[in-house]
Amino acid sequence: MDAHHDRAGFTAMTEGTAEDWGIIAGHFREFSSHLPARVITHLKLLEGDYGGFPVDRLEHSLQTATRAHRDGRDEPYVVMALLHDIGDTLGSFNHPEIAAAMLRPFVSEELHWIANTHGVFQGYYYFHYIGGDRDMREAYRGHPHFEACAEFCEKYDQSAFDPGYESAPLDFFVPMVERVMARPINSIYARAAQAAAEAA
Ligand SMILES: [Fe+2]
Ligand SMILES: [Fe+2]
Repeated sequence: MDAHHDRAGFTAMTEGTAEDWGIIAGHFREFSSHLPARVITHLKLLEGDYGGFPVDRLEHSLQTATRAHRDGRDEPYVVMALLHDIGDTLGSFNHPEIAAAMLRPFVSEELHWIANTHGVFQGYYYFHYIGGDRDMREAYRGHPHFEACAEFCEKYDQSAFDPGYESAPLDFFVPMVERVMARPINSIYARAAQAAAEAA
């Protein structure tokens, strides 16, 4: 195809046409279908990144997800567990919010809240060693998702630093990421994504 037929003709959106946006929507369908692959590629950036911990951040992620899976958690939960620290590379000072933003279109409000708030709850296990307040999570006491977040950290996150644990390999989780991220539930672009899925 002529490259110019493959691109919108406008130089500012005020000049855009339905034809232009048809072209862009076609590209979006293709691009968004590769989201799971991009996420996995980014997750792999955590490999070899120990930060002083007994396991690297990829192994910690796999171990968190494996523990959740073996405990009978459903697929969206396991994917949340796998990705909960994916923001370490770009969000050194707010990593939970990165994972939460990525997961938000695809998971329940509760799973989004766990991802978004796990940093504070994880602090219960170490903030007092670095001059902080381990009870910072008490600010959320009574919140509908308090117990779920505390449970995630207690059972799967704070316990996932064992070099001797046999985690499932990343490939085991790839189909789960693909299924969970196949269709957005909550997104201002959900209608476009739906149309793209129907056209595919
Ligand atoms: Fe974290
Ligand atoms: Fe973690």
